[in-house]
This record gives sequence, structure tokens and C-alpha cells, in this order.
Amino acid sequence: MCGIVGFTGTRPASPILIEGLKRLEYRGYDSAGVAVEEGSRIQVVCRTGKISTLEQSLAQFSLTGPCGIGHTRWATHGTPSEVNAHPHLSCDGKIAIVHNGIIENHEELRRILEGRGHTFTSQTDSEVIVHLIEDAYSMLAFDSSEEDDLADAEGARRPHTPTSELAAGKPSLLAQAVSMACGFLIGSWAICVMTEYEPGKIVCARKESPLVIGRGAAGVHVASDVAALADLVGEVAVLADGQIAELAPHGFVVFGSHDDELIRVRPETMKLSGRSDTADRGQYADFMLKEIYEQPRVIRDTLEGRFDGGELTIEELGLTHEELNLIDRVYLIACGTSYHASLVAKNLIEGWARIPCEVEVASEFRYRNPIVTPSTLVVAVSQSGETADTLAAIRDARIKGAKVFGITNVLGSPVARESDGVIYTKANKEVAVASTKSFTGQLVSLTLLAMLLAQSKGRLKQGQMRLLFRELASTAAQAEQILKDTERVHQAALASKDAKSAMFIGRGMGAAVAEEGALKLKEVSYLHAEAYPAGEMKHGPIALIEPGFPVIAVATESPTYEKVLSNIQEAKARGAMVVAVATEGDERISEHADEVIYIPKIRDAFSPITAIIPLQLLARDIALLRGCNIDQPRNLAKSVTVE
Ligand code: M6R
Repeated sequence: MCGIVGFTGTRPASPILIEGLKRLEYRGYDSAGVAVEEGSRIQVVCRTGKISTLEQSLAQFSLTGPCGIGHTRWATHGTPSEVNAHPHLSCDGKIAIVHNGIIENHEELRRILEGRGHTFTSQTDSEVIVHLIEDAYSMLAFDSSEEDDLADAEGARRPHTPTSELAAGKPSLLAQAVSMACGFLIGSWAICVMTEYEPGKIVCARKESPLVIGRGAAGVHVASDVAALADLVGEVAVLADGQIAELAPHGFVVFGSHDDELIRVRPETMKLSGRSDTADRGQYADFMLKEIYEQPRVIRDTLEGRFDGGELTIEELGLTHEELNLIDRVYLIACGTSYHASLVAKNLIEGWARIPCEVEVASEFRYRNPIVTPSTLVVAVSQSGETADTLAAIRDARIKGAKVFGITNVLGSPVARESDGVIYTKANKEVAVASTKSFTGQLVSLTLLAMLLAQSKGRLKQGQMRLLFRELASTAAQAEQILKDTERVHQAALASKDAKSAMFIGRGMGAAVAEEGALKLKEVSYLHAEAYPAGEMKHGPIALIEPGFPVIAVATESPTYEKVLSNIQEAKARGAMVVAVATEGDERISEHADEVIYIPKIRDAFSPITAIIPLQLLARDIALLRGCNIDQPRNLAKSVTVE
């Protein structure tokens, strides 16, 4: 979703901002803009569409100023347009802001501000912030000029420069004005602000939306995502909720708020690896394909070092065997693909550990009153680690006293920081909006968690654990084998590409795989797709089937294989074009399905890890045949940071 970058230093800001915005492109956006301090003025340039369009426009302005802020916008309030794109300016054009998040009370604030004479130029919720800061600033500036007059009279006036304020550790007028303005906001925000009144300075604030700050060779950078800062800074300060940061060309300070006073605090820091995974898709045509092919590596990396000495260990969980043994209920909370990985895990946790497990979409969980007690383990599954609904669910669960455990792909992400323990999925940066390799990382991590719970409850003995672990590890080689021959997937794509709609079916593990397969197809090809547990087909969806209608069946070897085969025949009898994902050696299936994609034989518990691969490839292949943008599907954002 929206992305923020900012820079103040000794080099022209504009190219640095554009480079940062490009690194955030993968998050999804529909317009972009920058504000750069040019001489004594702030120059704003916004464009709809791609960053490259903004970059071309900027060439005509020849901006050289060393301080600026930039933004990619994913429209929530107001259409994607230049007027709604950030940065937004105050009425006098002297203050500029960029904002990520949602201001829930924006309508009320807009009414009040308009009543006070402010003129709005956009339909966004964000614009209220800059007008609030404008009011707060003029009030504080008035008070301060009175004080300065007094100090002048006493001969004690100090110079008003960003650097001297930073050194003194005192908040500037701008920082105070931002803090005051935030006091009126309800919702979530990460904001960066600059003003002509205080050249070379950027003030940042956050609540629920991330912001990180780092010192580089040419100045100080701020961004909403570390991806924008990789290679530029070695370490970042992670701004916490309620903190305000003030950036100047040679350093930055962070303030916390105590009794309405801004007091300097030491921020939490995080080292960066210095490697930017976003840049290179190598030999692959798109990132989605590259990421699909990375899955064998993800499986190996996620398993590495987990089963040394004959026992499964997940130290990051932060729970002893005794504490694990006390867990009597598990909630898996997630959205989208992460939700589908959780559906698989429910079967494993209940099957192996015999602990009741519920899987819930985060946006539902947060508004219910679920039964959560101190012996409940809440597992938040999120690739990005910054999904707003998942974060809200974590906070809610913690208030209720549950242990919260995160499974995420992003180091130091809010999910990681706000959970009691975390497993990193080792997928590395996922650029394509459609999740593929992170699904695999989640499946493997959740499988380990299920095994650990079963081990703690004494339900799985050491020998069984060893056997399971060995089989789990073998999925890496199987994934490689599947990826070597994709011809049958291509045939299935050719047979399905002109359909208006498709149905995915499966049972047990296969039902979760069907869900994920349907989501992939919808996301990247815009072909309508629904997933049903195969047994549900007769209860309604079968009415959709007509000659040529694609039914994609997950029919791998499992206790319900015969049932799935019957469902395939029911679909076939009504003219469906059936594509089946089946286990190598299954000859019966080819009598009933039009296209069969074979995968190697594997235990049912682990079959989702390999069965999903042909469906990921199928979705991408169909999308290519339909001429879609594979990595950045329309309307979608990689990180859903607002509700
Ligand atoms: O970062 P998260 O795992 O929390 O994201 C959840 C969903 O937004 C995400 O899985 C989404 O459904 C993907 N586009 C799926 O490909």
C-alpha cells in the first residue's frame, strides 16, 4: 500500500526520493509525488500511474534541493488522481506532508478546519493533517515570537537553526506542531512533514503505521519500509507509536511524549543486512516466476537447524515445554494467503497435537469477542508483518492475556516486534504482489509449530518426529522436480484461459490448497474463481457447471481421494473441463480428468507444500495468456496497512 520516503542531507533529494519510491513500488500504488525544498520554496510534483512517469516529469523541473519527502499512494479516500496524490500542502503552501494510514475522524476535522477558513484541495482523509499542523504552527510561532522578543530584550536569544536545536535535544516548532496536530487525530498514521519556515528539516510521527530512520553517507533517510533504505544505511531507528522524530542533514533525534511535553528518548534500532532483494529478477520474466522457483530453497532454509540432536527446537517461541504443554486452544489469525496456510495448519495441530485450533480472518477476529484466555496461544501469520487487521488482532489477544506468536517474513516488522515470540519464514523479500514463496515458508513454519506442540504434549515420539521431519525436508527436492517440467501446466492454462469463471475443489488438505489456488488465479489473471470443499459442490455451486467450465481439482493421494474422484466425475458428467493435480502413478484419474498435472508421492500432511506449485504456475500462465501485469495486479497492494 502507500509508501513514504524522505531525505535531508548534502545531495539533491529528488533522485534519492525517486530511487526510494521505486524500491517501494512492489507494495502497490496508483499515484506518486514528491515535495522538495527548492531555494526558499517547497516544490511539489505529483503524477498518477508509475514512478517512471513522475521521474520523467521531474526532469523538467531540474530540482536540486537537498531536502524532500516522497510518497506512493494506494487510493482509499478519493480517486487515484494528481490532486489526491501526496504530498499535500497547507493553505499557504509552506508546509508539506505525506501520510500512510487512515484518519478516521477526517470528516469532522475537515468541517471544523473549513469553518476556520482552511481551503481543501483534495478528497483525501490525509489533507486534514497538514491543515491541523498549519494551525498549530502559527499558534506556536506566535507564542515563540513573543518569547523571542522577551529573550531579545534580555539579550539571550539563540539562533533558530535545525542543527542547533538537534544538538540541544529540544523539539523544534515544527515537531511541537506535529505533536499537537496528532493529538486531534483518530486512526492510524505515519507522517513526514517539512516546512519552508525550517529549512533542511523533516519531522516524522507515527501511530500504528511503520517508519524507520537511518543515517547514510550523504544525509538522513526516513522510509515506511526498510526495503527503501537497504544499501543506504547500515542501521535504522524504528519509530515507536506516539514518538516524533526530527531529521536534519547531519543527524536526527527522537522524542517521546510525557505529560504533553516532548522528551528526547533513545529509539529502538535494527541492523540492516545491506542487501536489496527487490532489484533483481535475474533470468526470470517476472518476480512471481522467480519467487515460485525459489520455493525449494525456502523449504531448506526454513528447516535449517531445527532438528539437531534428535529434537525439534523453536527457541524463538520463547516458551518452555511446560508452558507449551499448558496450551489448551490455538487461534491462527491471518488474511489472504496467510489465512490459507493457516487452514492447512489447523489440520496438523488438531491431528497431531490434539489441541482445538481455530483459524480466523483477522478482520473478523478483531471485532468479535473470541474466547481467549492465558492458556490460549494466538498465532499471527503475516508475510509482511504489517497487515493492519492482523496487528489489531494481536493487540487484542495480548490484552486478553494470551501468548502471541508471530510467523512472518519481515525482520523487525510490527508483527515480529509485538509478539511474544516469532518464527521468520526465510522466504526473503517477496516482491510480486501475489504471494507464492512466502506461502511455502508459512506452511513449513506452521508444520514445525504443529510438530512442536505435538512433541510437548507427548503425542509424537522422537522416532515419529524424526520420520516426519525427514519427509518434510524431502518436499524441497520434490518441489524442484515439479518445477523442472511445467508443460502439463501450460496445457491446462491453454484449456482454461478463455473461461469466464473457474471452480477449485479439494477435501481436507486439498480444500485449503484449492482456496489458495483460486486466490492466485483471481489475483493475477482477473478470472473469477471460487474454491469449495469438494463435498459442498452438490449443495449449490454445481449449478454453475456447463460444458467447458473449468473445474480444478486437488486430487492427491489422501484418505478422501475416492470422494474427490467421485466429485470429479459429477463435474465431468455436466460437461466440466477438469484439471486435476494428482499423485504420480495414479492412472485412474486420467480416465476422468481432461488435464492431469502429476506431483511426486508425499504424505497427505505435507502435500499442500508441493500441490500448490502447479496451481501457482497455472495462475501465472493464464494471466500471461490474458495479457495481465503479473507482478502488480490492478487494485492490489502488497502490504495491506489500513483496515
Ligand atoms: O502480509 P500478509 O501475509 O499479512 O498479507 C495478507 C494478504 O494481504 C496477502 O496474503 C494477500 O492475500 C496476497 N496478495 C496473496 O497473494
